[in-house]
Amino acid sequence: MDNQRLSEEDLLRMEAQYCSYGDTVHYLKNPKIFSRCEGSWLYDEQDNSYLDMQMWYSAVNLGYRNSDIENAHNAQMARLPQLASQYLHRERILLAAELAVETEKRLGEKGRVHFNVGGSQAIEDSLKLVRNYKKGQSLMMAFMGSYHGRTLAASEITSSYRYRKKFGHFGNRALFVPFPYCYRCFIGLKRDTCHYECLKQFSSLFETEYYGVVDLKDNEVEYAAFYFEPVQATGGYVIPPGEYFARLAEILKKYGIPMVDDEIQMGFYRTGKLWAAEHFGIKPDIITFAKSLTNGLNPLSGLWAKEKFINPQLFPPGSTHSTFSGNPLGTAAGLAVMDYAKRHDLESIVAEKGAYLLGELKKLQKRYSVMGDVDGLGLALRIEMTKPDGYTPDRELTDRIFHLGMEGNIETGGRRFGLVLDVGGYYKNVFTLAPALTISYEEMDLFLKLFSALLDRCGC
Ligand SMILES: Cc1ncc(COP(=O)(O)O)c(C=O)c1O
Repeated sequence: MDNQRLSEEDLLRMEAQYCSYGDTVHYLKNPKIFSRCEGSWLYDEQDNSYLDMQMWYSAVNLGYRNSDIENAHNAQMARLPQLASQYLHRERILLAAELAVETEKRLGEKGRVHFNVGGSQAIEDSLKLVRNYKKGQSLMMAFMGSYHGRTLAASEITSSYRYRKKFGHFGNRALFVPFPYCYRCFIGLKRDTCHYECLKQFSSLFETEYYGVVDLKDNEVEYAAFYFEPVQATGGYVIPPGEYFARLAEILKKYGIPMVDDEIQMGFYRTGKLWAAEHFGIKPDIITFAKSLTNGLNPLSGLWAKEKFINPQLFPPGSTHSTFSGNPLGTAAGLAVMDYAKRHDLESIVAEKGAYLLGELKKLQKRYSVMGDVDGLGLALRIEMTKPDGYTPDRELTDRIFHLGMEGNIETGGRRFGLVLDVGGYYKNVFTLAPALTISYEEMDLFLKLFSALLDRCGC
């Protein structure tokens, strides 16, 4: 079989015959096959160009084929591309040190870094850390709307039952509490006047043993840790109000419940800070990360934990292990990502671009009543699509716009473009925007034109 001569139809026929559908998601009726990428752009087999406003769910923060990261990766390829994970190499130690030092600068806490290969695996490792620290206590708290991965244990702290129902339980399902999704408040209040009622209700759980959380006789809580995404990602880039997390942290501290901060999607400057939690003045006990650690070049993930959780006496060699964890290519790419962040003032760049894009989206919202909510933190932005009443979720419209974008034929300025969007949110009606942090102002303006062209096409 001459692989290069196979047409797109041939490939799709082979996919239908040989590929498991269980390891991916077919959002499109006719899945696209892409053949190259550059910066903020994807190109299909016919070389049509698509402006990518989701960058592989924020796994490629520094743009496709970023030459600084690629060069570091390729140099490693030419020197020491492979090494069993029981041996050490320079890049692994340097990357752990870099992440630990940068985190210490921000949180004022000493800690260590532990590697694995994917986001869910980093979550699994964090569960081991917490369960070990809490001497086998295995129940977790997490948020409604959370997404922490789909391995068996990660699914137990991910809110959707859909991800668990075919496979039964493995471990214990988390206690899910409402996230401060103020546009659609779970208890029906308005942010201006709510006085954080949701936190008052959460706090009441600890008032009496009859609410099933605490044994007040010896002041022991049944839950080992609280898992959270500082900005809910799959949940629809939901940004909490300013003081929420600091107030939550006070309650958790009072009852000795560690905070596990899942930065797998929001980390590495997506929101303008290395860790999104920095915006909220909290000091998590454990931080998990993956995706953009290598700018999407290599499946490397990891966690940072305070010394008391991860010191080698408590968490000895072999507590977790995976063949590819901390691999040379990934750690070289990770070091290059951290170095890139140091050489470019990403905090300011992301804050400025994010403010510009959010401002323009707010202007667009005045023209289109179906853009019910528009919000953003750095370059993590959301457009919640609704009926013209500005509130009722419109999943069908969201889906149409998404499909039209992928057809690759939006005309503007005498050229044709595609638009890559991602749909998330509790009602599958939110465009979660995660453009490359390297996106240009011209590309942001082009996005605004393409998006409004799609809204016009849908008769909005
Ligand atoms: C916040 C968050 N946690 C965990 C995961 C799981 O990571 P992975 O898909 O690499 O297993 C994801 C993936 O989208 C995520 O966004």
